[in-house]
Amino acid sequence: MPADPRTHRLHLRAAGVSLVLDTTGGRIPAVLHWGSDLGPLDASGLSALFAVTTPAISSNGPDVPLRTGLLPQNADGWLGRPGLTGARDDGSGTAPRLRVLGVRITEGGAGRDLVPGADDAVETGPALVCFDLADEELRLGALLEVELLPSGLVRVRAEVTNTGSDAYTVQHLTPVLPVPLDADQILDFGGRWTKERAPQRRAMVTGTHLRENRRGRTGADAAHLLHLGTSGFDFSSGEIWAVHTAFSGNHLHFAERLSAGVQVIGGGELLLPGEGRLDPGASLASPWLYGAHSAAGLDAIAHRFHAHLRAREEHGGLPYPDTRRPVTLNVWEAVYFDHDLAVLSELADRAADLGVERFVLDDGWFGSRRDDSTGLGDWTVSQEVWPNGLGPLIDHVTGLGMQFGLWFEPEMISPDSDLARAHPDWIMAPSPERMPLPARHQQVLNLSIPAAWQHVHDAIDALLTEYDIAYIKWDHNRDLVEAATQATGAAAVHAQTLALYRLWDSLKAAHPGLEIESCSSGGARVDLGILERADRIWVSDCIDPLERATMNRWTAQLVPLELMGSHIASGASHTTGRLHSLSFRAASALLGHLGIEWDLRQASAEELEELRTWIARHKEHRDLLFTGDLVRADRGQDSIWITGVLSPARDRGLFTVTAVDTPDIAPVGALRLPGLDPERPYRVHLHRIGPAPTGYTWPAWARQGVDPAADGRGRGYGPPELIDHVDVPGSVLVRTGLAAPVMAPETAFLLEVEALPSGSPRP
Ligand code: DGJ
Repeated sequence: MPADPRTHRLHLRAAGVSLVLDTTGGRIPAVLHWGSDLGPLDASGLSALFAVTTPAISSNGPDVPLRTGLLPQNADGWLGRPGLTGARDDGSGTAPRLRVLGVRITEGGAGRDLVPGADDAVETGPALVCFDLADEELRLGALLEVELLPSGLVRVRAEVTNTGSDAYTVQHLTPVLPVPLDADQILDFGGRWTKERAPQRRAMVTGTHLRENRRGRTGADAAHLLHLGTSGFDFSSGEIWAVHTAFSGNHLHFAERLSAGVQVIGGGELLLPGEGRLDPGASLASPWLYGAHSAAGLDAIAHRFHAHLRAREEHGGLPYPDTRRPVTLNVWEAVYFDHDLAVLSELADRAADLGVERFVLDDGWFGSRRDDSTGLGDWTVSQEVWPNGLGPLIDHVTGLGMQFGLWFEPEMISPDSDLARAHPDWIMAPSPERMPLPARHQQVLNLSIPAAWQHVHDAIDALLTEYDIAYIKWDHNRDLVEAATQATGAAAVHAQTLALYRLWDSLKAAHPGLEIESCSSGGARVDLGILERADRIWVSDCIDPLERATMNRWTAQLVPLELMGSHIASGASHTTGRLHSLSFRAASALLGHLGIEWDLRQASAEELEELRTWIARHKEHRDLLFTGDLVRADRGQDSIWITGVLSPARDRGLFTVTAVDTPDIAPVGALRLPGLDPERPYRVHLHRIGPAPTGYTWPAWARQGVDPAADGRGRGYGPPELIDHVDVPGSVLVRTGLAAPVMAPETAFLLEVEALPSGSPRP
């Protein structure tokens, strides 16, 4: 038993994960183990863990073993990036030595303070542990919260308080989590407008892999998730540790390997100069840093985040936001700024007839906004375009049984707007004379000014009160540069981000049931800060299904399908110019919160019929899609992608098989269906909707009446000879796979699986 009464060792266990925290000698909490479940550990087991994980003293380092605290500090021998740095105005206080004053643990809603000397070893399930820390000499206090969630996610945040009588300015407040050195491959993401969340891999080496975001919004090039994994990790194999910073303003992620033989992953807010200034008594909190561990590849990381998001209050106590996540028509690519009641009513008619359940009116309905150069900030309905208000359109839409949604971009202001003319000081800028460069002809409205916040709040609230609006598409189309309050010149991204969260919270509280989509030039605001509140995210302005295959696949690493806006676009992509069949567009959109973004007046009767079938298919499966487990795989030089959703009981599944490229081998071997139960037999239904694509050759198993043993008769080109279904043992589907068809590029088909009740597969 540890002699020092300030020593507490806590073993938290949930969903296959163990997290062991240690405060030996009252020193800053460190993680002794974050990874696969260790099983029950008593006090002697925890002592043994401490003993065997204490590192050797490096030959030219400090004379004590290196301690990697959750907020690592110089005073503990840490020579990497410190967790907390800052200074007083006279330059003092740069290297805090935080020590533990007390520990509180909350399990199942009940909290208790640990008793020094008695609670030296604690074993629990999911729990929140709050460490009360201080450096009394430097007059700093800190609260470090570490939580193991039921999903197996770990999250950490810190709040620093200035207990002195003069100001203290925090420079960095970035917690970390330790990762074994065996994990030496990094996967994170880059991207740009219309190509969000592009994966990038590299080897981890000594030094820091640092991803900084200074856009004032999450960014199309956000790190998204920073993974460190064992060599060759993929969707279903390899041990992986990943972090995500839950913040929608400036932020960072990093992985750091020290020559002293440790590595960490971490992240937090990126504070601009002065943003961390704390007057006496003031506090600054970091956003949550989420950590996910997987013993078996990337899918398990995704499952933890999905389980966490599905447990949000926003999900309304249901396993997903609404059992009928409404199929949506967004009219942006159909009409752009050209609003006309008759045209929009016709689109609504066509949509309702197809089974669409929500109609969203996009940009252009307000103020002087007839193109993207004016009007932001003037959130009143344009008399010019809508002389009788939005009532006639909304009545028409709701009369057809659909919900109505409306676009806003509340954090922005057009210099050419009544709002900017009335309140030029509400524009974010270092001074009235130093306007930032415009972007998309717009500036940023400073929501940290209470009157500006109230103005935009009241304008939106009035519309939500007057009209039957179920849903807001909340856009944000420029980065924040030189983002400051004119009166003081002080940077205001931190305050802006928190003001945005307050705005959403207030509108949602005043309008229960209101859903808000997070859109930002497409998918530039996808993070767990906004997702504490958002009901949907817009993945990208690029709806080209080939591009979306990548973007949806990797957005889903964090976001469950029911929160990912996934639309069927018109045949020629508006952002890439590529032409695609309806079946490819629809199959690619099916695994998401389905929508349409297409001028339905241009669709042929055959296309409308096919679209109706796809919508019906989506509705048939959405309970599965929105509660199930995502599985992903690739085959044949990464050219055939398999994406599936399996019911938790593994008795149902839906897979899309997508040819994203032309492999230089064909066929690409076998399609192994990941995640199914190898002990159960399954019926596999082959679904193809719409005209048969050219260039296909189906294997014998997929063709009616073809004997695989008979030479020369397995060749064919699609319907009408395709089977409806085939019965196959689960072990064969998982471990051997179905022979792949020769697929034409940029095509897809669906496989639906259902477990057979019992016994062996029928012939
Ligand atoms: C950017 C969004 O991503 C688009 O979907 C659309 O809403 C436009 N803004 C409107 O200006």
